[in-house]
Amino acid sequence: QTPAPCDIVVFGGTGDLALRKLLPALYHQFRDGHLATGTTVIACSRAGLDDAGYRAKVAGDLPAFLGHDTTGADLDQFVARLQHVSLDIEIEEEWQPLVERITRDGVDPDRVRVYYLACAPALFGPIAAALDRNGLINEHSRVVLEKPIGRDLASARAINDAVGAVFDESQIFRIDHYLGKESVQNLLVTRFANSIFEPIWNSGAIDHVQITVAESLGVGTRGGYYDRSGALRDMVQNHLLQLLCLVAMEPPTTVDRETVRDEKLKVLRALKPIGAADVPHVTVAGQYAAGLVDGAAVPSYVADSECPGSGTETFAALRVEVQNWRWAGVPFYLRTGKRMPERYSEIVIQFKPVPHPMFPHAEGTASANRLVIGLQPDEGMKLQLTAKEPGPGGIRLRPVSLDLDYASAFERRAPEAYERLLMDVVRGNPTLFMRRDEVETAWAWAEPILAAWEDGGRRVQTYPAGTAGPVAASTLLERDGRSWHERE
Ligand code: BG6
Repeated sequence: QTPAPCDIVVFGGTGDLALRKLLPALYHQFRDGHLATGTTVIACSRAGLDDAGYRAKVAGDLPAFLGHDTTGADLDQFVARLQHVSLDIEIEEEWQPLVERITRDGVDPDRVRVYYLACAPALFGPIAAALDRNGLINEHSRVVLEKPIGRDLASARAINDAVGAVFDESQIFRIDHYLGKESVQNLLVTRFANSIFEPIWNSGAIDHVQITVAESLGVGTRGGYYDRSGALRDMVQNHLLQLLCLVAMEPPTTVDRETVRDEKLKVLRALKPIGAADVPHVTVAGQYAAGLVDGAAVPSYVADSECPGSGTETFAALRVEVQNWRWAGVPFYLRTGKRMPERYSEIVIQFKPVPHPMFPHAEGTASANRLVIGLQPDEGMKLQLTAKEPGPGGIRLRPVSLDLDYASAFERRAPEAYERLLMDVVRGNPTLFMRRDEVETAWAWAEPILAAWEDGGRRVQTYPAGTAGPVAASTLLERDGRSWHERE
């Protein structure tokens, strides 16, 4: 059902995120008829544009981010709905034009207002305070905070306090766009809408879990942000830990807004702390050097980011433990990196071998079962089994795969993560957003690792661009007699 008309205000309206993700998401929702007539999208920035100037900019930029989905007439209609307000948030008088647009005559003062803060986290508190001062927050207002929420526990708390001083927690939507990916939501359905997985989803049957989020891109033009961040803050503290939570959590009793988040929080609280003494043994930090990606020479991170001598990690691998009854003794290996050979994300559930070798005279060995859940770019699921190779004579064991490809199973366009999440904000459903306690618990866990890396002078190991990270990442698993799953 199409939600009632609302106002969507995007701070950082000319930024990368707005152009790459938010406007395309809004466009698709508009085209599919989910944005009610009368919904306004007001972009705010310091770009000094009027409505016409902003529309011209978006009309020029957007097609590149929409790919094959562009259709002229729809796009024109969408762009015509956009407005732009020039606003330096620190100058009080500059808020007035925004106030006038939002409180314009003939518009229900109680209608939903979405404030999307697609800007630096240092501005979250000041913007929230100014919205309040200017009387722009009604009962149906919602604020969306982009990650990273701070850069450590103290700064996350300060942001949460500042935003929480004017918005109720139920109005605050902390986005982790991984939770909006179809494939990630499907994880919950796979686990909890099928009866065959749950009985074996524990340390009795599972040997270990691997979560990989690999990117082939470098940091591009984001060096300024990235160099203060690094892979642990940019990806692990949020996206990878959220994936881990979905794999590890107990079945929620319902999928309502609090229950799912309560269960994820329990997992975060059960993460074994990684102290300074453990850091060298269970964490690996890497940084890409110049190399070859898809046959093309690419520069090093230091050159890309223009940060000479930088020790910021563009790759992180960790051995994580969830200290509870279900997962005792089952390591979760996490890794993520930029400039890896290809872009893919997957979760590997490695089962234990059979307890007794039934076919001692067979050729080949029974490989332990493995469930590989592909999250992107191709969503699917592969269950590796051992089968008898057809033929007369003795038994020959061979690994085979049950292979489910979602794109061919469901011939429908899967909406982008931001489409789903933006509409959840408009509808007021925070289930797929991070609650304050989740964000802060994740920071509390990550902080000692960051501190140890920084104390150690951030001696990251380099890896050539186009490879799967530093050698130490393989050693991390080899020490446990295991290895990273290799994509076929
Ligand atoms: C963002 C990170 O949150 O996620 C980026 O800041 C990263 O550094 C991106 O590239 C990856 O998202 P996706 O959806 O392309 O996997």
